[in-house]
Amino acid sequence: MVYDLIVIGGGPAGYLGAERAARAGLKTLLIEKRFLGGVCLNEGCIPTKTMLYSAKIYDGAKHGEKYGVTAENLNLNHEMVIARKNKVVKMLVSGVRSQLKSCNVTVIEGAGEIKGKAVEGYEVSASGETFVGKRLLIATGSEPLIPPIPGTKEGLEKGIILTNREILDIKKVPESFVIIGGGVIGLEMASYFNSAGCKVTVIEMLDHIAGNTDRELSQILMKNYEKKGIVFNLNSKVVEIKDNTVFYEANGRKNSIEAEKILMSIGRKPVIRGLSLENIGVEIERGRIKTDETGKTNIPEVYAAGDVNGFSMLAHTAYREAEVCVNNMLGQKDMVRYNSIPSVIYTNPEVASVGETEESARQQGINFEKSIVSMRFSGRYMAENEQGDGICKVLVDKKYGRIIGVHMIGSYSSEIIYGAALMVEAEMRVKDVKQLVFPHPTVSEIIREAIFKF
Ligand code: FAD
Ligand code: NAI
Repeated sequence: MVYDLIVIGGGPAGYLGAERAARAGLKTLLIEKRFLGGVCLNEGCIPTKTMLYSAKIYDGAKHGEKYGVTAENLNLNHEMVIARKNKVVKMLVSGVRSQLKSCNVTVIEGAGEIKGKAVEGYEVSASGETFVGKRLLIATGSEPLIPPIPGTKEGLEKGIILTNREILDIKKVPESFVIIGGGVIGLEMASYFNSAGCKVTVIEMLDHIAGNTDRELSQILMKNYEKKGIVFNLNSKVVEIKDNTVFYEANGRKNSIEAEKILMSIGRKPVIRGLSLENIGVEIERGRIKTDETGKTNIPEVYAAGDVNGFSMLAHTAYREAEVCVNNMLGQKDMVRYNSIPSVIYTNPEVASVGETEESARQQGINFEKSIVSMRFSGRYMAENEQGDGICKVLVDKKYGRIIGVHMIGSYSSEIIYGAALMVEAEMRVKDVKQLVFPHPTVSEIIREAIFKF
């Protein structure tokens, strides 16, 4: 049988792409080598958010007196947290399986490898069989970047160094954790293990945490976590790991720190190994499959979506990219507009951003003005956050008065940011947003507060 589309990889890009294609009438095959749902459902977004929610409830209860709530013998039961996480993951993965079934996607368990091009289409082998597809969607995702730092390989083998995969199934909370990399994974895991009573130290090479996040927000986040007891070593580069000791260089001096466990979270890399892309000549650029914003590779009818193209390693980007690929396959012109993709760090407080930061706007020479307001201007925020120090920052281009960036730290930011993304995507101007009505009392009103300062 010749399929209209073969999808390799069953993560967000793969399963959503397969579903959209099948619903549009394409005979679709999906090949997945590990678990449907990919990193996001099994060892990324969902497990981490499940664990962080437990930590949030625990922290809320621990500091409940401020709100007139007292409790005794509070305990964050890590084993129960992990069991619940597994239950949530299982439910969502089975949901994906039944969605695919309901739209008649054929699912094959096995590693897909591209064998070549025949007259009828592309040949892909998996699970001892060869399948032919008129089109391919490569959605093989990403995996942790393992640096060539001496001692890393041995540490991983001994189970002292963990990646995002192992940390989510760790049986007991260690006494101490050194987290290498103060990016998104590092911060979310630092947040959970700090709440769980572990001594957490973050070692970050740069002079700030949270990567490209607005610098002011990353400083507020760091101060919040320093108050909770997390130690941050910035401008510090890890150079060697020997068993439980991490050696790092800071200001030209070599230091070391010991911990029961070490998390390696210094970034991720696209998975292209084992695909044999060379058999059909798919172009690779700096370790990622090269695509344009329509998802096309250099080979006709071969598309790539999600982390494997290395543009923006986020699940919601993967969804949109997959949809764009399928639309283009069906002859409907579509493209991803990367500048209005929101991002969130699910720490407590949470951080959410969309569009340009002050730093990126300056780099591009955009003439902008900004409005910054304390979240304390929101009645709902005050009702729910004793001593909260959240802020909302809105950037507007001076020429047209368009909203070009929104950055928030504080409760509900993750849920509010899509409204801001809409403003950026639709190129709304300050005067347009001034006419919008926000529900009261909600933290979202803070955007209105910020807008009325222009
Ligand atoms: P993946 O989810 O990586 O799926 C790819 C799939 O392809 C995998 O199942 C893999 O087994 C399969 N595969 C690979 N090679 C083959 C092959 N040869 N044959 C068959 N199958 C193959 N993003 C967010 O937006 N929000 C978050 O809160 C968030 N939290 C995260 C937390 C962590 C700890 C991590 C690690 C990531 C997180 N992400 C988050 C990122 C998110 O998980 C990814 O962006 C998303 O999973 C990418 O989807 P994908 O479909 O491209 O790839
Ligand atoms: P990251 O790129 O976010 O952060 C890695 C950090 O490690 C950087 O700050 C970098 O400067 C630092 N680093 C690199 N080498 C180092 C060294 N030798 N010593 C010390 N520090 C070093 O990568 P991370 O956290 O691994 O996450 C990978 C990706 O997963 C993210 O970029 C994101 O796309 C996705 N993700 C998204 C989440 C979300 O949306 N909430 C949550 C978790 C992951």
